Amino acid sequence: MLDEKMRESLNFQLNRELYSGYLYLAMAAYFEDQDLPGFGNWMRIQGQEELSHAMKFYDYLVQKGSRVQLAEIETPQKEWDSPLAVFEQVYEHEKMVTGLINDLVDLAIELKDHATNNFLQWFVAEQVEEEESSSGVLHKVKMVGESNRGLYMLDQELGQRIAPTD
Ligand code: FEO
Repeated sequence: MLDEKMRESLNFQLNRELYSGYLYLAMAAYFEDQDLPGFGNWMRIQGQEELSHAMKFYDYLVQKGSRVQLAEIETPQKEWDSPLAVFEQVYEHEKMVTGLINDLVDLAIELKDHATNNFLQWFVAEQVEEEESSSGVLHKVKMVGESNRGLYMLDQELGQRIAPTD
């Protein structure tokens, strides 16, 4: 059985992962509306990954015999000024999520909850990848600048992203 504060915090993170998925799906919709289907594809897959993250928290809570309590998911932003603005936000969002995961690890350590600490280590590693992939696309969007040709080519590249199988 989990400590109640640990349970609440993991349950809250489940909500944050769902919100991340919702935010990235909103970004996918923005790109699709901008006739950038490759960017939309990349963002759809990003959103799906967040739903799988949420389910990892869901499954862990169930596994520990703790009650999952779903809460409201706030409405995500709907419009952005440019692809650059979107990816600046994605990178900042992922850094914020890294902070939330680190706070959860701190709590698990404080509570001497080794099982939860071990569970969270997957997310610690995942956040390194999340920051790397979002900052990587951000860097490319910056390089493209105002070039429509560059944007078209980057759209082709991002359209190649394939959803992971696990
Ligand atoms: Fe669930 Fe993008 O971190």
